[in-house]
Amino acid sequence: MTATNTTTARKLTGNIGAEITGIDLRSSISEIDAADLRDCLAKHQVIFLPDQHLDLEQQKALTSVFGPALQLPYVTPMDAEPEIIRVYRGAEEKGGVFGGDWHSDFSFLEVPPSGSVLNAHTLPPYGGDTLWASQAAAWDALPDALQDLLLGRDAIHVGKPYGVKWAPPVKEQSGAGIKMSRGDPTADEEMKHPAVLQNPVTGRRMLYLNPTYVTRLDGLSEAESAPLLDQIQRHVTRPEFCIRHPWKPGTIAVWDNLATQHYAVNDYQGHERLMYRTTFSGLSPRDMAALPDKAPRVAAE
Ligand code: SIN
Repeated sequence: MTATNTTTARKLTGNIGAEITGIDLRSSISEIDAADLRDCLAKHQVIFLPDQHLDLEQQKALTSVFGPALQLPYVTPMDAEPEIIRVYRGAEEKGGVFGGDWHSDFSFLEVPPSGSVLNAHTLPPYGGDTLWASQAAAWDALPDALQDLLLGRDAIHVGKPYGVKWAPPVKEQSGAGIKMSRGDPTADEEMKHPAVLQNPVTGRRMLYLNPTYVTRLDGLSEAESAPLLDQIQRHVTRPEFCIRHPWKPGTIAVWDNLATQHYAVNDYQGHERLMYRTTFSGLSPRDMAALPDKAPRVAAE
């Protein structure tokens, strides 16, 4: 598919992800290229732009193409760069990695990030890939009984890793390369979001659930929700709904945070990895709630 005269998007899997070439993000981004990038993101849910090698100002300029930059709670940003998180893991660190389980970024906020931008700087000699799962493709293929259960229902999201009540055991927490607040009771507050969203651009429906932050479905207890959420999560992360991205220095990834979950693979202990991450805001999940009827499904492209 040609996005502009010079910009080309190449699908990388049947359901999620495209590589965008023919654009230099170090130069100012024209309005036509910006519109194409937004369009590609809406269609493909995660886009990869290789060989960009952006500095932080250029990364911020790219981020603003998609929406206003967000400053996130509970994670300490870079000194003098409140919008940028330095996702760093040192060679000496052991234990978990930041983002090392399936999640959608900060889904427990009232207005979670609409998307994120990850800029690959220093990479291990092997490993350190990131996976994304399409919650839109997963919705399309979800059995009718589960669609009926979820349409029009809210799910409860909590900032579990940063709070008290649901905090993971210390051994599962991310390493020391990123400073995160732990044990903050404000992160235990519950936030309700619709379990099924509808993209206002494409009309496509998508699940909005993830195991890192969702504690239960509204109207059901944690114990009643757990087997359903587990079954849905196994479905969302079926390989045919996922893409696994092996990074190269200078590659930029941009993802739709409301249409995907992602997972940072923890398999490069003894080696350094450094990425710079920005996030941008847009509509709230409530603004994107799918109508509670069985409207025809919008087929994946
Ligand atoms: C994240 O944003 O969750 C981290 C992703 C990564 O480091 O690959």
